[in-house]
Amino acid sequence: MPKHLVSINDLSKASIEKIFDLADDIDEKLKNHQTIDLCRDKIMATMFYEPSTRTRMSFESAMYRLGGKVISSADTKATSSAAKGESLIDTIKVIQHYADVVILRHFNDGSAKLASENSLVPIISGGDGSHEHPTQTLCDLYTLRREKGKIKGLNIALCGDLRYGRTVHSLVYGLAKFGATIFTVAPDDFALPEHVERRLKSEYGTEVKKFKKFDEQLSAKDVIFMKNLKKGKAVKDDVIEENLFQPIPIEYFDAIYVTRIQMERIEGTKSRHESLMSYLVNKELLEKAKNDTIVLHPLPRRSELSYDIDKDKRAAYFKQAAYGVPVRMALIAILLGVTEDKIKMTFDKSKDCILDEKCSNHNCITQEQENVQHKFIKVEDVENTYRCFYCDSEKIVQN
Ligand code: NCD
Repeated sequence: MPKHLVSINDLSKASIEKIFDLADDIDEKLKNHQTIDLCRDKIMATMFYEPSTRTRMSFESAMYRLGGKVISSADTKATSSAAKGESLIDTIKVIQHYADVVILRHFNDGSAKLASENSLVPIISGGDGSHEHPTQTLCDLYTLRREKGKIKGLNIALCGDLRYGRTVHSLVYGLAKFGATIFTVAPDDFALPEHVERRLKSEYGTEVKKFKKFDEQLSAKDVIFMKNLKKGKAVKDDVIEENLFQPIPIEYFDAIYVTRIQMERIEGTKSRHESLMSYLVNKELLEKAKNDTIVLHPLPRRSELSYDIDKDKRAAYFKQAAYGVPVRMALIAILLGVTEDKIKMTFDKSKDCILDEKCSNHNCITQEQENVQHKFIKVEDVENTYRCFYCDSEKIVQN
């Protein structure tokens, strides 16, 4: 059976560590200009239905550096038979005979899972809608391990768009596996989805900490606001509510992970938040941070991350992007079984699924594709609540 990576939950902590150990070896070899030809006879297909710079190109670079070959569809939505109305399942059933591994980025939540159910070769998700982005998490965790020497026990602040940003939805589970403490900083409209928080608690025993809890303990000097907006100040036609922003006790953190607002996934007037979140992390903020606090960002950035900190040694986001190559090399090699390193994958069991209910997430792949059976897993300890097998959104079903 092929080993797919569609969610960070498919990998145990031990498996992630194996990937990282191999990435360390590979990185060393790359630095010494040694040839690595683990994938000499292999072909990787990249199918990107959404824009990408880092994910697609670092995967392609990784495969070339492993001695393999790449067939690439960089704008799959427009240039493949998807434009003629071909379903994702049909496309996968064809591509599986052209390549030994497929990297898929798709705009629907749960698309990678559906693809994996229909593929004879490994499917690696390069991001599915606003659901997950497991290989970005591997890069994020690897950067923490390299730059901080460990992940366990670190205090990590996740800031920005935590609702629509898929990188964070994978990252929180990854951080929980390694025993980091997670803090969130986001306006309510951009808070971590409830089902993610619930799963973190039930499956990992991890509770996200919110800044509000700190309020009483903070003195004025500890507090820096996301943006220096005062109550009642008008931005365009809106008035900012006082409680929209929470204070960031920056000195507390070992790493700050910032994300851009996913404008392409938001309808209506919420776009005003982009101006509100501008320069969330800037020079002024970093002045109050510890000397060894690092700043991470999956990139691309918008105005939430100021260019004025790029030269600061604590700015680790370009390294984080660079580590994408050795990390993805290690992942491809392991999933293709061309190294001694064997990993165990932990797939969701579908035995508890109930059928004949539609997923409530309008962006779920099951809403888009014909002939896909909706499946759910019972959420333990929450009455009448089921989790979509594909996109993880929860649904209440009255018996
Ligand atoms: C992220 C993504 O595509 O989700 N980018 C990436 O892969 N590095 C983050 C983003 O687009 O904001």
